[in-house]
Amino acid sequence: MQVYQYDQVESTQDLAKDYLKNKNKKKAAFVAQSQTNGYGKRGRFFYSPAQTGIYFSMAFPNFEIVREKINLLTPCIATNVVDVLRKFYPQKDLRLKWVNDIYLKNKKVAGILTEYENSGLIIGVGINIATHDFPEQIRFKAGYISDTLFEHKKMTNELLQAVDLASKNYGQNQFMEQYRKLSWLIGKRVNLKLGKKEVTGLVKTIDDAGKLVILTNNEAHSFSSGEVTKVE
Ligand code: BTN
Repeated sequence: MQVYQYDQVESTQDLAKDYLKNKNKKKAAFVAQSQTNGYGKRGRFFYSPAQTGIYFSMAFPNFEIVREKINLLTPCIATNVVDVLRKFYPQKDLRLKWVNDIYLKNKKVAGILTEYENSGLIIGVGINIATHDFPEQIRFKAGYISDTLFEHKKMTNELLQAVDLASKNYGQNQFMEQYRKLSWLIGKRVNLKLGKKEVTGLVKTIDDAGKLVILTNNEAHSFSSGEVTKVE
């Protein structure tokens, strides 16, 4: 796989999208030391300063998604990413917040953005390894993994391989067992925002189809999308 490296870009996600737009046929990765306009789900700003994090996007041209398995793709990527991070930081109790975020002690330390465009798949990964100086407006929810960023190159390479593997293996849902083990939400009360609606309940599990199963008034409801806004 071709890996393009940059010092500073606006967003590796946009580079990957342009790459697909230009009808490139081979998969490729775009890795940046920093981003001036990194973004996550719902277009939210993803703070990406130099020397403290890992930011990359991978472009998979002509990606044929298996429709019935679509909800498994992001959990599979997230599981593989967190497995790599836990290998480098075994002391840290990194957890998955359904569906695409990685948390450490109630704070988000990494995010994954899965998008489709021009018949291709784009997977963006942003990790705050040693980022302390978050902008005021996200300080209450953003965290970091460690004080130092060591083995940066090695970790990035392993992450690229892990994401690549997830793009092939997501259909076989054995990884969901590991996803549940690493879940931060199972057994917790949460608020789930679905457009203008909000559901509150106890998270029973994340099922083998990647859906969040919430108990409200002793009834189980499963959700394939939505944003968990509160965890108790
Ligand atoms: C999220 O928090 O919702 C996902 C965050 C994804 C951020 C990564 S950093 C590399 C890539 N480039 C971007 O602009 N976004 C993704």
